[in-house]
Amino acid sequence: MAFELPPLPYGYDDLAPTIGGDTMRVHHDKHHAGYTRNLNAAIEKHPEFKGLSAEDLLRNLASVPGDIRTAVQNNGGGYVNHALFWEVMSPHGGGTPDGALAAAIDAAFGNFDDFAAQFSRAAMTRFGSGWAWLALDAFGKLVVYSTANQESPYLTNFIPLLGLDVWEHAYYLNYQNRRGDYVAAFWNVVNWDAVAAKWVAATR
Ligand SMILES: [Fe+2]
Repeated sequence: MAFELPPLPYGYDDLAPTIGGDTMRVHHDKHHAGYTRNLNAAIEKHPEFKGLSAEDLLRNLASVPGDIRTAVQNNGGGYVNHALFWEVMSPHGGGTPDGALAAAIDAAFGNFDDFAAQFSRAAMTRFGSGWAWLALDAFGKLVVYSTANQESPYLTNFIPLLGLDVWEHAYYLNYQNRRGDYVAAFWNVVNWDAVAAKWVAATR
């Protein structure tokens, strides 16, 4: 069973003006499709790994054969990172979380604004390409941090809950070099219900 490119859960143009349709088409249909294709090509060389989820491949990267390990790290990471990214955005997003997730964020970061500032700072200070994350660390603690390139939180047994792609391909058509404007606008489309569902599943 090959990895399949998950469809966007909304239309290409639906996140505009935060992220325009031109960006979404290239990002999903070219970049995410490319990671999916390259992950499949890597696993094709070692069919004994077919049937494992991309998350499990990343969690157990040390047991992946050396000739495909880098390809799995980069393309498996790109595959799962982007799948999460589409899920945690919505045309009806924005605002703040509520319920148990809101309480957990307050407990971990003081309050929502301090959390959002820390997350935005992680996105802004990631040099070059990468991702900002809200994740559960290997001990189940909520953390904000960033990773380089397509490095996935699963590589270190973290569980990603909210991710922001800060590769230039994610924002250049809309914002050119103004990553800060992109990061600020991202909060308008965050799907907190999806983030809360991930948090419930991860802490169950
Ligand atoms: Fe991307």
